[in-house]
Amino acid sequence: MSETTLLIHDLAAAVSPAADGPLRGKALGELEIHAPASVAISGDRILALGSPTKILREFPPGPDCVTLDGHGRVALPGLVDCHTHAAFLGDRAREFELRSSGASYEELHAAGGGILSTVTATREGSEEELAGAVGRHLGWMLEHGTTTAEIKSGYGLDRDSELKMLRSIARAALRSPLDVSPTFLGAHTVPPEFENAAEHVEYLTQEVLPEAAQLANAADVFLERGSFEVPEARRFLEASREHGLALRLHGDQFSERGAVPLAIDLGARSVDHLEATGEEGAKQLARSNVAAVLLPACALFLDLPLPPARTLIEEGAVVALATDFNPGSSFCESLPLVMSLACTRLKMSPAEALGACTANAAHVLGLSGDVGRLAPGYRADVLVLDAPDWRYLAYHLGGDRFAAKIKSGQPLGLDYRTL
Ligand code: NIG
Ligand code: FE
Repeated sequence: MSETTLLIHDLAAAVSPAADGPLRGKALGELEIHAPASVAISGDRILALGSPTKILREFPPGPDCVTLDGHGRVALPGLVDCHTHAAFLGDRAREFELRSSGASYEELHAAGGGILSTVTATREGSEEELAGAVGRHLGWMLEHGTTTAEIKSGYGLDRDSELKMLRSIARAALRSPLDVSPTFLGAHTVPPEFENAAEHVEYLTQEVLPEAAQLANAADVFLERGSFEVPEARRFLEASREHGLALRLHGDQFSERGAVPLAIDLGARSVDHLEATGEEGAKQLARSNVAAVLLPACALFLDLPLPPARTLIEEGAVVALATDFNPGSSFCESLPLVMSLACTRLKMSPAEALGACTANAAHVLGLSGDVGRLAPGYRADVLVLDAPDWRYLAYHLGGDRFAAKIKSGQPLGLDYRTL
């Protein structure tokens, strides 16, 4: 029998989604709560959790076991951020200022700023500079309890720069305690050296995809006016699927223009954003296996309408939450803040918000059964919240405080900030 190597003893509670993703409808808000609780970990896996006396009796600490005092605190699964653009150089502080005085995100994009200004800065940097930036951003995420993160490329847009981005993500991941899932977002927007979207997609599928597919788990496209329309998005995603990648879409962010039916037709893993999705689109999505990834920090940052979270959940869609961390539309790496926004703005319950950025986010990344829950056999990614009630994670606006973070069975010291 495996031996307990780390024991989190005598917690006020251990709280987890009750089942694996995909969670739909009522199941999204169903939690398994052990109170009081201890969590026994062996190596990088959770061995058992339950009442402190039972755990001590059945899974006694081995001679080299480290024991953490959980008294008055709550254990939760490490958070999973299933949609980020954390690989970038430069910033968009000036753009933020312009937006504060009335310029819109789409106007700035159409004028050659926005995403393309981050493309210019990211193309200029070396692979090592970019890996340094990714590592810094991963450290920020970990401060807020993220232990697994997706990171998209998409600020290179040409062969060398996209591959540089994907290699820098891999390089940073090797140095970070977080688990990272890379996504190829070559079809983020059309760079100036291409005549039109169709020409750019042809180039991406012929010249970039074969190598990018070796470095990524998924492909993504920005289906929106001013970037890619349905025919180009379909071409890019079908080619990506042939290379074995899971499919994601940025859809219905500013306008509803066919992302949901395309995602369903192609069997995509998710369609993300959905701020402009109407009743019919939400119902179609709910009847499908495509997850709806909601990004309320982006809606807040750009002052967009909110996605139809309640309709999606009540109609049975697989709903996940993510930060969309990026320099232009959501400069926010905090999933607890996203959970707060989900509760206050999207009217999701704290339990639904937790399920949406743990079990369902893991499902979006193809990691169900490995991360996103506290249960025997799962990776030992555990947050010890320095609060008496797990709901503080969403309730304490911007105030997530952790007594400990454990990644793959290892308690992380304060020096994670500099990793
Ligand atoms: O998800 N909308 C497209 N892509 C990102 C924004 C990227 C950027 O503005 O740099 C998003 O919002
Ligand atoms: Fe995004």
